[in-house]
Amino acid sequence: MATQSSESLYVDSIGWKDIPRDDPSVIALRNKLQQHNGIKGLDILSPTDTKRAVELFDRDGFVVIADFLKNDQVDMLAKGCEETIKEILALDDDREGNRGSHRYSFGGSSLTRSRLHPPAWQMLLNIPELHQIVSAIFRSSDYMLRAASGDFCLPGAVNYQILHSDTSDRTSNPFTKFFSFHDPRGQQTVRDLPCPYLAVNFLPQDVTSLNGPTRQIPGTQNSRARIPNLEEEPEWMRLSTVCPAPAGAIMIRDVRAWHGGTPNISEAVRSIPNLEFYAPWYREPVTPGISYQDFKKLSEPAQKVARFHVADSSEHLEVGSILNNIFKS
Ligand SMILES: [Fe+2]
Repeated sequence: MATQSSESLYVDSIGWKDIPRDDPSVIALRNKLQQHNGIKGLDILSPTDTKRAVELFDRDGFVVIADFLKNDQVDMLAKGCEETIKEILALDDDREGNRGSHRYSFGGSSLTRSRLHPPAWQMLLNIPELHQIVSAIFRSSDYMLRAASGDFCLPGAVNYQILHSDTSDRTSNPFTKFFSFHDPRGQQTVRDLPCPYLAVNFLPQDVTSLNGPTRQIPGTQNSRARIPNLEEEPEWMRLSTVCPAPAGAIMIRDVRAWHGGTPNISEAVRSIPNLEFYAPWYREPVTPGISYQDFKKLSEPAQKVARFHVADSSEHLEVGSILNNIFKS
């Protein structure tokens, strides 16, 4: 099993801008989370449990598979995340984040809306077993890449992110062009469908009760109920987090399932870079995120799913980080 690989980001200056790490409220929260945080009886599968993984994904809206990445892949991913994090944090001395204080979207902070240009994310897209499990879930290999993204939170991210779903019906949000589904008869919503797109998060470090595990509410992917806000949310949902999960694991999420960020009151960054895929029958607009030269180096399955993300061979793809990106990711 790979070891914790983000130790070089264990530096005092990187987080804890809002509140001291030894504030009494932080100490109380730390004690509570150490005792109670985490989904009880969380199933963590092995890479050969494909049939069970599909069952749990369909039932719960997410599934965790350990030992998915090899040690050298974990190391490459951790280093790639660290480089990108440093690039982003150089733009944000106050750690205001772009998903709340101390919280950042990798894709949402990229000029291309995606992190398909760093080699670490390209490495993920080349993993053959990734395409096997995504094909099994979609029951087809004709899915396509939505984005290379994910998120990270810094130590000192003491607040809970509101529970939310990553997609909704076309007409419910006039501020984004990225939602596609609309039933003009008013009979069906995106929540009544099979999974329209999923996210595969890769763990470059252990995820623990203290470093901002994803809060995931099992079985909510098809719920039409209104998602509770922070005041309404019951305590069991606050503690319904996907931990402990080891470095090298993946978490596959139906993005409709209710989820949210939780406090990182550890001493290190917690990253969960991801790849997102549209079901064969679902599409939203995508923008170029990889140069033609890099695209040609990808594996055949990777090229197939990323074929709408490649820049023209005559074009220069501008890449970099920005924190007030108008795109929603
Ligand atoms: Fe989300």
